[in-house]
Amino acid sequence: MDHLVSPSLLAADFGNLRKEVLMVNRSQADWIHLDIMDGLFVPNISFGFPVVDYVRSTSEKPLDVHLMIVDPDRYLSRFHDAGASILTVQFEACTHLHRTVSEIRNLGMRAGVALNPHTPVSLLRNILPIIDMVLIMTVNPGFGGQSFINESYNKIGELRNMIDTGGYKILIEVDGGIDTTNAAQLIDTGVNVLVAGNSVFSSPDPAETIRKLKTLK
Ligand code: DX5
Ligand code: ZN
Repeated sequence: MDHLVSPSLLAADFGNLRKEVLMVNRSQADWIHLDIMDGLFVPNISFGFPVVDYVRSTSEKPLDVHLMIVDPDRYLSRFHDAGASILTVQFEACTHLHRTVSEIRNLGMRAGVALNPHTPVSLLRNILPIIDMVLIMTVNPGFGGQSFINESYNKIGELRNMIDTGGYKILIEVDGGIDTTNAAQLIDTGVNVLVAGNSVFSSPDPAETIRKLKTLK
């Protein structure tokens, strides 16, 4: 399967949000990645429903929503109503993860589980049959523009093995410090979805950077 690219709006110019979303619409991006931070699970607050609702009204790409919030169960149906196609929760924020991912799917969304850099992929073994995506955090969540953690390659390889051995149809997404210098190696290691914030929105030609991430040329 061809890999997907999901530009992270966190790095966009919020004074020109319409222009940024229209750029993503015209680009080769597959999804648009929205980071929701609550100031508790991570030491930062990003944006909430007014922004998500606006992006939904303007975006032609599916909304790939990454919740970095405690107790995400409180908001699953609200994010469904806001138009999320893929809803990802942090493993570390869920006491009853089986219930949470089941509810995401029951609502009609694809369910993703994100792992912080310190969380081993082996902890996902019993949840793999009922999820659609694993998001490997390749930085500590909370901020854009951080450096990619190199140990992530081993973790991705291990997860790729677990997925293939079990015969699951689960996407592997990576998020944090992704750019045109590491994208190809990540795809070779088994990644299916590249999230990229600063490397896209801070580049001189964001649509061209998306094209490079998509074609790896
Ligand atoms: C970080 C967020 C990322 C962030 C990535 O906690 O989950 O999606 O926007 O930004 P870059 O690509 O700049 O590292
Ligand atoms: Zn994210």
